[in-house]
Amino acid sequence: MHVLAIVSQKGGTGKSTLAFSLAVAAEEQGLKTSIIDIDPQGTTKKWYSRREAETGPEVNALSVNQLEAAMPLLRKQGVQLVIIDTPGADVPGVPAAIQLADLCLIPARPSVADIEASAPTVSAIHRLGKPFSYVLNQCPPGRSIRTTDAFRVLQLTGAVASTPLAMRADHMDALATGQGVTERDPNSKAAGEIRELLIWTLNRMEGKPHGQKQTRVA
Ligand SMILES: Nc1ncnc2c1ncn2[C@@H]1O[C@H](COP(=O)(O)OP(=O)(O)OP(=O)(O)O)[C@@H](O)[C@H]1O
Ligand SMILES: [Mg+2]
Repeated sequence: MHVLAIVSQKGGTGKSTLAFSLAVAAEEQGLKTSIIDIDPQGTTKKWYSRREAETGPEVNALSVNQLEAAMPLLRKQGVQLVIIDTPGADVPGVPAAIQLADLCLIPARPSVADIEASAPTVSAIHRLGKPFSYVLNQCPPGRSIRTTDAFRVLQLTGAVASTPLAMRADHMDALATGQGVTERDPNSKAAGEIRELLIWTLNRMEGKPHGQKQTRVA
């Protein structure tokens, strides 16, 4: 069972959006997937309550105290991928999620503010000795110097996912309708980017070289 924590103390970077769309895409690839929402704001839990599809990931909203005990239960249920959606704040749940993770994904918009604000998150991950990767999100669609520059800066950390996610209305619509972007429009660019990010992330968690693939934006 792999555990992916999506973390960044900066609000609104796309943690919940990545959690549910990656989870739906993973289910579509045949991976039994469960999301744990430890954010009291409950964005992913509310997304789940709007969901009409009978298939797809389960979402459990848990407190930080319940987090560790949930892992053996999920493993027993045959869950192959757990995605933990965390709050955009410096609260005790975040280190607890990092501690359980095989990989932490840090979504960041291609802005100096997001990249600067990620420093405490990266420090917490380093303290706990966990692997991490940035993923650029809400990038201007198409080729953009902003995306390329941010990618190059993050590349200096040695850890940035090769697939930047563009700002696309499909993500907002998927949040509103309880879908993943791959369900909403399987042929959309947003769906393609999420599938690519999923493969990159699974490869990285399994130590496969595809995780080192060069970016499409550079
Ligand atoms: N790639 C994207 N394209 C368009 N909209 C996006 C994208 N990613 C996220 N959003 C939108 O940005 C807003 C914030 O996203 P989300 O709630 O996933 O962020 P978050 O990091 O979980 O926030 P918080 O820190 O408050 O938990 C939402 O309205 C979401 O639909
Ligand atoms: Mg959120």
